[in-house]
Amino acid sequence: MARFRLPADSIVKPGKTFMAEKRSRNNRLFKIYRFDPEQQDNPQLNTYEVNLDECGPMVLDVLIKIKNEIDPGLTFRRSCREGICGSCAMNIDGTNTLACTKPVAEITDEIKIYPLPHQPVLKDLVVDLSNLYRQHASIEPWIKRQSPDPEREYLQSPKQREKLDGLYECILCACCSTACPSYWWNSDRFLGPAVLLQAQRWIVDSRDEATQARLDALNDTFKLYRCHTIMNCTNTCPKGLNPAKAIAEIKKSIIKQK
Ligand code: SF4
Ligand code: SF4
Ligand code: FES
Repeated sequence: MARFRLPADSIVKPGKTFMAEKRSRNNRLFKIYRFDPEQQDNPQLNTYEVNLDECGPMVLDVLIKIKNEIDPGLTFRRSCREGICGSCAMNIDGTNTLACTKPVAEITDEIKIYPLPHQPVLKDLVVDLSNLYRQHASIEPWIKRQSPDPEREYLQSPKQREKLDGLYECILCACCSTACPSYWWNSDRFLGPAVLLQAQRWIVDSRDEATQARLDALNDTFKLYRCHTIMNCTNTCPKGLNPAKAIAEIKKSIIKQK
């Protein structure tokens, strides 16, 4: 359950400053959260000055430049660098988003980069998403059929396929769930917007034969009904998806079956 008092060692202290060697009109300051569990010290906010003329346009390009040329200890996740894998999700300029698709030019003020909020920090910008992955596994994210026939193709009409639009594109980056106040307070029992959008993806799949069981499993005060339609999830999704709508659709489907 929620902890309303932050431990003293969670207070972020000012950290080191790394200024660029050369002055340039295109130098920008980046303030980046650093936390090393092995140091037994408070997290710090380090400042890095980066010449954007010598760097790619996205926030991830800046992070890679800092790691390669200024501070090799800086730790973050990334893989595809084109908004597909979801691993570079972090809080940039106050919003959860993907570092690889966030242009530096879109940020006018000082650029602050933190890990995704309200998750245990493993190191620097890397958080532990084990709880979310366990919750994802709990919705059984695969096609379930009464008598599966591996020799047969299960076809969909274009209309049936259309129902997956706005759902199948989810890359499970966790930006939405970690922006959701209900998930912050109840992430042990509320499934959160990312996992519920995924649940809806299987509920509406015409090839799946477990719709009833899926809805029954979600019909729970905590798993589903902790969503109070605050909409942070939809506002933050870097893929432009609408988890709040997916959650509302699940609630509607449950009401219809009664
Ligand atoms: S719905 Fe959007 S924000 Fe949430 S996990 Fe999927 S892609 Fe990420
Ligand atoms: S709409 Fe629901 S899931 Fe989305 S942020 Fe609000 S409470 Fe969380
Ligand atoms: S590196 Fe894959 S989504 Fe950003």
